[in-house]
Amino acid sequence: LTRERYPVRRLPFSTVSKQDLAAFERIVPGGVVTDPEALQAPNVDWLRTLRGCSKVLLRPRTSEEVSHILRHCHERNLAVNPQGGNTGMVGGSVPVFDEIILSTARMNRVLSFHSVSGILVCQAGCVLEELSRYVEERDFIMPLDLGAKGSCHIGGNVATNAGGLRFLRYGSLHGTVLGLEVAAQALLRFCRPSAPARGCWVRSCLHSSSWMLCACSWSGAISTWPARCKMLWALRERITEALSRDGYVYKYDLSLPVERLYDIVTDLRARLGPHAKHVVGYGHLGDGNLHLNVTAEAFSPSLLAALEPHVYEWTAGQQGSVSAEHGVGFRKRDVLGYSKPPGALQLMQQLKALLDPKGILNPYKTLPSQA
Ligand code: FAD
Ligand code: MLT
Ligand code: ZN
Repeated sequence: LTRERYPVRRLPFSTVSKQDLAAFERIVPGGVVTDPEALQAPNVDWLRTLRGCSKVLLRPRTSEEVSHILRHCHERNLAVNPQGGNTGMVGGSVPVFDEIILSTARMNRVLSFHSVSGILVCQAGCVLEELSRYVEERDFIMPLDLGAKGSCHIGGNVATNAGGLRFLRYGSLHGTVLGLEVAAQALLRFCRPSAPARGCWVRSCLHSSSWMLCACSWSGAISTWPARCKMLWALRERITEALSRDGYVYKYDLSLPVERLYDIVTDLRARLGPHAKHVVGYGHLGDGNLHLNVTAEAFSPSLLAALEPHVYEWTAGQQGSVSAEHGVGFRKRDVLGYSKPPGALQLMQQLKALLDPKGILNPYKTLPSQA
């Protein structure tokens, strides 16, 4: 499926041998999955439009096991695809070819929580909703909330720097993670109960029929929201799932000047006419983030040609970004040039080569194929 639509060639990585499987079994006893049926779901992305053909999935429980796996893969030149909840929107979470899937599903332990500083230490595979429940029971909230919370892992959230519904209030997740590790005092000052309420936070989403949903809350008040308000947010959170049932979804995640946010939606409705089933715009108004979604009965190269590069050129014309919060993954790597100058792409390439000299970690993702 993936290779039919995207021109990508397998790089010369090794293939998994019987000896590799035996080595993995020694590293993660009982955590080596090779059953073709069990491998079907983790090979396909959430939107069900990309499919890899990995024959091995590893389920470590500790970071030491991850480290041993990666050491082995590095020595053997085996490519690896880390996978959390597999809810990503840009195809970063599934193999393109036969990369080994390194799942964090069993790394789901909270290691510690400090009830004064609010510092949570947990493994990468903790499901966001479970972490939310855990900290809410202790009168805290996670600085992140998104529709995929029941499945996505905190490691995947951090890897994609997920935005979500609390972005305006708490800022970028990366900022929060760094804060917890190195700016904990500032966080404490910010969160402590005696701190004056800093006004309300507003996180809005834009809906296709142009009603706007705004949430205002004061620190910690989330659990006391009236049921109706929660219901409205539940509707907002289910847009993605509803669209995925409408047919094939062409999904764009753009940063645009707020005053031009919806223009591309009306533009595309006129441009595509009956060729599209629905052209839907929603997202996170406060962040200038539009999720532009076009649905059709099935994938069609002519509809794709009507959308691309038009959407990207239009975005670049507004000095916008072709990737706002979903990350770059597999789908967007060849359009990064619309938002980043060649020098920046080169620097990314160099940094990657420094940290991953053989390029075994999630190959075919993020960096442009031609950079
Ligand atoms: P995966 O999809 O498994 O992986 C995503 C990427 O992270 C892949 O490249 C993977 O290789 C890498 N990765 C995963 N874990 C690790 C790790 N431990 N170490 C290194 N790399 C890792 N995104 C938003 O930003 N805002 C939203 O509001 C939002 N809402 C969503 C709503 C729905 C219904 C869905 C389905 C998705 C939504 N997303 C949203 C997409 C979002 O990126 C993911 O839901 C989430 O952040 C990814 O977490 P995951 O555990 O599923 O990661
Ligand atoms: C959202 O805001 O609902 C998510 O980013 C998922 C999507 O874009 O559909
Ligand atoms: Zn979003």
